[in-house]
Amino acid sequence: MLRAAAGGPALLLSALLWSLAAAGNPELPTAVNITWSSINFKTILQWQPKPSGYLYTVEIHGQTSDTKKKCILTTETECDVTDLLRNVRETYTAHILSVMSSGMDNFEEPPFAVSEKFTPYSQTVLGKPEIQNYTQKGSKLNVVFQDPLTPYTFPNGSFQSIRDIFQNDLEYKIYYWKDQSSGKKDATTKSNTFEESVDSSKNYCFYIQGIIPSRKENRNGQESMVLCTSIGRNILDEYGAEVFIIIAVIAIAIITSAVVLSVILCKRKKAKAAREKEPLNGV
Ligand SMILES: *[C@@H]1O[C@H](CO)[C@@H](O)[C@H](O)[C@H]1NC(C)=O
Ligand SMILES: *[C@@H]1O[C@H](CO)[C@@H](O)[C@H](O)[C@H]1NC(C)=O
Ligand SMILES: *[C@@H]1O[C@H](CO)[C@@H](O)[C@H](O)[C@H]1NC(C)=O
Repeated sequence: MLRAAAGGPALLLSALLWSLAAAGNPELPTAVNITWSSINFKTILQWQPKPSGYLYTVEIHGQTSDTKKKCILTTETECDVTDLLRNVRETYTAHILSVMSSGMDNFEEPPFAVSEKFTPYSQTVLGKPEIQNYTQKGSKLNVVFQDPLTPYTFPNGSFQSIRDIFQNDLEYKIYYWKDQSSGKKDATTKSNTFEESVDSSKNYCFYIQGIIPSRKENRNGQESMVLCTSIGRNILDEYGAEVFIIIAVIAIAIITSAVVLSVILCKRKKAKAAREKEPLNGV
């Protein structure tokens, strides 16, 4: 009846009053600030505000698939929707429904907010690759790493990696540099190893990240931790320069005495030989 009263401002005011009056009215607050957070295809929807006196239900609308509900009648402001987005190339939108706690939500369509569109294949962020091992032998820096896993599984139950999904669209990039220097070099691979030529006398540091070159956004994945080789970390680093000086002094002493000794021995030999020759000369 209030609604029938009159034009714009009155209507707005009455709506406001109805909202404040709460109890069984359909003018519930709807979700705002809806965001998709997705890493390696694990996807979580978040929104605000915390509900008070009502609940949320999430509906996922695909282009071709049926609408599915998740986090039904929740008091949370986030929802893991990973398992509803399995068709990763499809574009989805989420409706966050605001519903009354009781069964009263059946009377009419509950109010809802609509998220932005989300396509897992082109928007999920590539997580950090895990470095398995690395070596620097001579002038070769070798790095072996693993593809991050997704929450999706094969029929046999083992987890699919991001490569199982992206296949040829996936590359990895390594950034490497001489320890304590800032000039970075980089290289890319479609395999799970890097073999880079480096200066064999220097330590190197590096990190790697997944890349999807065909993407316009989110091309670069998260960076792995930075690791450094320790080829130069030999006796000199471990025991300090003093040990080297002492070793050098000892070595010089040994060499010097050897030289002196051989000179003395040599002179004695010559003298002896000369003495032995003398009688012959006398004949
Ligand atoms: C939505 O986000 C904006 C900016 O981050 C923030 O100022 C606002 O308070 C948020 N809304 C709610 C209901 O929390
Ligand atoms: C990494 O480890 C595997 C197995 O332990 C080994 O076969 C491979 O040679 C190692 N690679 C490097 C670069 O150290
Ligand atoms: C499961 O199946 C996938 C693909 O068919 C295969 O790559 C993987 O090795 C299998 N895992 C096990 C544990 O059999």
